[in-house]
Amino acid sequence: MPIISDKTSVVDRLETGISELDTVLGGGIVKGSAILVGGNPGIGKSTLVLQLAASMSSLGFNSIYVSGEEAVDQIRIRALRLKVDKVDISLVASSNITDIILSLTKIAHNLDLLIIDSIQTMFIESIAAAPGTVSQVRACSYELINFCKEKNIVVIIIGHVTKDGQIAGPKLLEHMVDTVLYFEGEKGNNFRFLRSIKNRFGATNETGVFEMREIGLQEVKNPSSLFLTHHNKDVVGSTVFAGIEGSRPILVEVQSLIAPSYMASPRRSVVGWDINRLSMIIAVLNTHYGAFLGDKEVYLNIAGGLKITETAIDLAVATTLISSFSNIALPKEYIVFGELSLSGEIRAVSQSQSRLKEAKKMGFTKAIIPYSKDKLLKLEDSFTLHYVNHIKDLVKFFKKK
Ligand code: TYD
Ligand code: MG
Repeated sequence: MPIISDKTSVVDRLETGISELDTVLGGGIVKGSAILVGGNPGIGKSTLVLQLAASMSSLGFNSIYVSGEEAVDQIRIRALRLKVDKVDISLVASSNITDIILSLTKIAHNLDLLIIDSIQTMFIESIAAAPGTVSQVRACSYELINFCKEKNIVVIIIGHVTKDGQIAGPKLLEHMVDTVLYFEGEKGNNFRFLRSIKNRFGATNETGVFEMREIGLQEVKNPSSLFLTHHNKDVVGSTVFAGIEGSRPILVEVQSLIAPSYMASPRRSVVGWDINRLSMIIAVLNTHYGAFLGDKEVYLNIAGGLKITETAIDLAVATTLISSFSNIALPKEYIVFGELSLSGEIRAVSQSQSRLKEAKKMGFTKAIIPYSKDKLLKLEDSFTLHYVNHIKDLVKFFKKK
């Protein structure tokens, strides 16, 4: 289906059959585009692309999966596990780019998708450097992308991520491709998030959600239901945040624990959020609420392994901290969102409407949110909105309880 891209040129998109992936890509894979998929070893990149190749093949597209990391038999075993072994995907074990391109030339007119797993294993003989080095990564990517652009083949390049979270090799690699996706997840839980960092053909910051199971990656179409722990009673230090990931609302539980500390500088530990932002909220609570946490350890956790980048979560963090500090639980029918400023004021955030809608859909009936001039969702009698302008209003709310 031809559509108009941001650059007003007409692009041809192919639906992959994996709707979470299509969403992240902005509605499908653009023909002839180059996509870089980065992520930590073991996160599930190879699994994702094999499932993609299988899905595309079953839709009638031709895919070739080139692996420089595993033998063809190993990939076959994985395909068996994913129950896609009956699907026709060409598997190749090679890391010599010149050979790969040479053998593809003959069949290029019939090829829709080429997968390279991973760019760090690929090499060009004439370059006197080991695979994975900057010069090899750059030259191999250049050759591959050129070839695929010319033949209008989609190329998906897998790139490992170094310890500091960058795709190994030159930053240049990110400039060479049209789209950069990162596959992420926390150790010890099965949720995986596919995010677009750059996309020449769509919006960035879209997030696709998957769960790694025995039989491969399963799409999570209603993420809110998974990130919420269903409590039967109110729980101290637990607040549900109505967030927005890319273009869609998602509810997550924000948990906190405040414990006495005997150390000179007590621990602050955050999973899934920004530790500096937490320090700021602690300072605001200290100044405007009198909550002194200088002799307390503070732990904050976003349940489910999601990493939140929105400041709209501020109010939910403040709420959960006040709850932990005062040992009063926020009733479980509440959701919270809003941005906090240093003065203690609470500011409105974008997309309030869709946040509230999602909350309603998930069975929540009350919300603590910033005052807003916009007429928010007429949720009528079934939904109660508590407006707060300042952190003091939030504190009053807890005192009334
Ligand atoms: P893999 O795709 O090999 O990761 P990457 O290519 O990013 O290094 O997947 C690695 C992990 O996923 C591996 O530890 C096993 C697990 N896994 C499952 O749990 N279920 C599955 O169906 C598959 C194929 C893998
Ligand atoms: Mg792999």
